[in-house]
Amino acid sequence: MAEIVIDNLRKVYPGAKGQPDKVAVEGASFTIHDKEFLVLVGPSGCGKTTTLRMIAGLEDITSGSIRLDGRLINDVAPKDRDLAMVFQNYALYPHMTVYRNMAYALELRRVPKDDIRRRVENAAKLLGLLEPDNLLERKPKALSGGQRQRVALGRAIVREPKAFLFDEPLSNLDAKMRVETRAELSRLHHALQATMVYVTHDQVEAMTLADRIVVMNGGRIQQIAPPLEVYHRPANLFVAGFIGSPRMNTITGTVTGEGDRVIFTEKGTDHPIRLAMRGDLARLLEKHLGQEVILGLRPEHLADARDLTDPDPGATFEARVDVVEPVGAETWVYLRSSAHQLIARVPHAEPRTDIGHTLHFTADLSRARFFHPGTGESL
Ligand SMILES: Nc1ncnc2c1ncn2[C@@H]1O[C@H](COP(=O)(O)OP(=O)(O)OP(=O)(O)O)[C@@H](O)[C@H]1O
Ligand SMILES: [Mg+2]
Repeated sequence: MAEIVIDNLRKVYPGAKGQPDKVAVEGASFTIHDKEFLVLVGPSGCGKTTTLRMIAGLEDITSGSIRLDGRLINDVAPKDRDLAMVFQNYALYPHMTVYRNMAYALELRRVPKDDIRRRVENAAKLLGLLEPDNLLERKPKALSGGQRQRVALGRAIVREPKAFLFDEPLSNLDAKMRVETRAELSRLHHALQATMVYVTHDQVEAMTLADRIVVMNGGRIQQIAPPLEVYHRPANLFVAGFIGSPRMNTITGTVTGEGDRVIFTEKGTDHPIRLAMRGDLARLLEKHLGQEVILGLRPEHLADARDLTDPDPGATFEARVDVVEPVGAETWVYLRSSAHQLIARVPHAEPRTDIGHTLHFTADLSRARFFHPGTGESL
């Protein structure tokens, strides 16, 4: 088993001559459970690699602690941590066969030959390096990018580490290969029942692979939750905008009470979108009467009112269709209300020729999220 507990981790890189220090990771605390597939995701420079390298022992920790199965490993050398790291640049030994590339680390540790053969063959079988073609005697230059990446994975697997650390291992592959290898990684996680920590800036990879996602921005953790919770209940505006494509619509507006109704009114226009809140949402917004809030609504929760049998008038508004993008199974419709640009995902493969027309759109307000305009935090 392998449980990794990270507490209040901080990393400061000293600035070069005359430059200020760089805080790469600040106050990161999270636990990677035994057998969990945990994905660190966030934009470039947010501190993902730095965090992973501190776990691996390749980077000094400025402050905070890392425990592996209860043992403090802050000062344990990388080779003594029993963690296997797979990088984006997997750098196979070009002069060695696939077999030796996988066997080499075990040979250095004087693992018995039979044992090495068994481990390499098991890994090769798991990774599809034996069938349909046996690739074990080939040199890396005679492999495709995806096959090379699988050999790099094999090299980590044969070590039978306590946990796997992956830093963007698929980003050198083309789009098709990336999707295939992603599915393979999921299968592998299932087969090995191993603890895995995976870094990516690709939110689709994060959503599809993770048991839980850690969203980072500017060195700080924004949210830790299972993929669908991150998607449906983002902790703040950053997470709401980063996870999901096309991105979540956001509309700034004010909350007022009208009789027993709670109304959200778009700001900054004489012809605002007005939405009447019900149930839990009304009760939530009642606490913000007279205040400004930001409404967040996923594109799939915005419907062309013509597609609904009984559109809720309290959730329906007018908007002009600007752009229509057919993407295959559905169509993305870019709308303009008088103050905001919005996107609706409508379930039509054949786009209608509505460009320039003003139409009715209906929000599924049961799925709406609200955020504080100052802090960006979810209400
Ligand atoms: N050796 C270093 N010295 C100084 N600053 C560094 C060093 N390594 C990284 N940084 C800075 O620390 C921040 C975090 O870097 P990190 O490599 O962890 O980002 P990342 O999230 O992995 O980004 P990417 O998605 O681009 O790989 C960045 O601002 C980066 O410029
Ligand atoms: Mg990185």
